[in-house]
Amino acid sequence: MEDFIYHNPTEIRFGDHLDNELTDTLAQFGHRVLLVYGGHSIKHNGLYHRVLDLLADFEVQELGGVAPNPKIDSVRAGQKLAQNVDVVLAVGGGSVVDCAKVIAMAAHYPDDPWQLVVDRDLAAKQSMLPVVDILTLAATGSEMNINAVISDPSQHLKVGARCPHGPNVSFLDPALTTTVPASQTAAGSMDIFSHLCEQYFDRAWPNDASQGMIEGLMRTVITWAPVAIAAPDNLNARSNLMWTATAALNGMVGAGTVNHWSCHAMEHQLSAVYDVTHGVGLGILTPRWMQYVLDHDTSTAALFARFGHRVWDLPTTGPLVKQAQAAIAATATWIAALGFGMTLPAIGIPDTTHFTEMAQVAAANGLDHAYYPLDANAVVKIYQACMT
Ligand code: NZQ
Ligand code: ZN
Repeated sequence: MEDFIYHNPTEIRFGDHLDNELTDTLAQFGHRVLLVYGGHSIKHNGLYHRVLDLLADFEVQELGGVAPNPKIDSVRAGQKLAQNVDVVLAVGGGSVVDCAKVIAMAAHYPDDPWQLVVDRDLAAKQSMLPVVDILTLAATGSEMNINAVISDPSQHLKVGARCPHGPNVSFLDPALTTTVPASQTAAGSMDIFSHLCEQYFDRAWPNDASQGMIEGLMRTVITWAPVAIAAPDNLNARSNLMWTATAALNGMVGAGTVNHWSCHAMEHQLSAVYDVTHGVGLGILTPRWMQYVLDHDTSTAALFARFGHRVWDLPTTGPLVKQAQAAIAATATWIAALGFGMTLPAIGIPDTTHFTEMAQVAAANGLDHAYYPLDANAVVKIYQACMT
């Protein structure tokens, strides 16, 4: 296991805290609020008016229309509005929370916020406004981490920024996620599962503490995602998914790991060029990445076999490579059952035109330090495997 420092001061208020606690929570930072939200979901389900009622005594400015895979233009608009606010309040999924975090970081930055997205040293030096969020979708972990993923479609880029700090307070009420449609529940669950895979398949050994925690969280997603998809109002399912999403990417299970994330680097290029839903891209890539790794390095079979045994309840008999193969097959079957297309053409990517360009950007993003190191040629092969 590697040495690490773990410090995560985000306060989580899980459950039914909003109506009694939002105003006091915000008031500790001031009374001028920038409310950031996405499309129409919070207006359809009543949350928008509920929050505005709670904010009756605050001076509120609004930035709506933050899109999935949030764009730098939304950050630019928010940066202008945030000059004279005390706190940024994000109400939405990971895209809204990510956008709000970068707006909070850019509020007192004099230049274009894209510089803060691409330059992590510059970002680390910024003072950042407090951020409070009301999360409406279980997926990214943005509610308890310093990451924020922002896209610039004009450059075909989707970049993971690092903020000086994460949200100060996150309201996680699973009841607010019951209106998430099945497709987004599936994509969010796949995102959680991928975050766990990216940290599980790692060369730091032995890191049984992290891998054991991850195995438990993986089993939780595997069990409850299909329940939430079939029965959107099932609060047991929504609660388990929501807390697992946070736990998967608040730094705890990644402590002591060493590898760069592979599927996320490859997926971010799919989203950058084709604007696909993050979790859907991950669902297509993950089993192909696993197969590529096992095919090229059979020493990985032992960890895939452990994954099969502890996560998928597969038997430990027979050659390790066969056990590993069975684990990959079980993963692919579970992902397919979530209900989204399992090839790139099935989600509207018709051909291989941009693969070389995408692979170069993905590989340059640290994939030489991945669990199984990948160069641009390898990434092209994995994208190609996703065509059928
Ligand atoms: O825009 P609205 O109308 O709110 O609708 C959203 C959006 O269409 C809808 N939705 C959210 N909550 C809802 C709801 N619909 C009905 N009822 C609700 N309660 O769901 C759609 C997707 O929302 P989005 O916020 O885009 O989803 P998600 O939370 O999966 O966030 C994805 C973004 O986060 C980034 C991804 O790359 C992507 O840009 N990530 C951020 C990470 C982080 N900050 O640590 C890590 C992740 O790996 C990921 O890269
Ligand atoms: Zn993700």
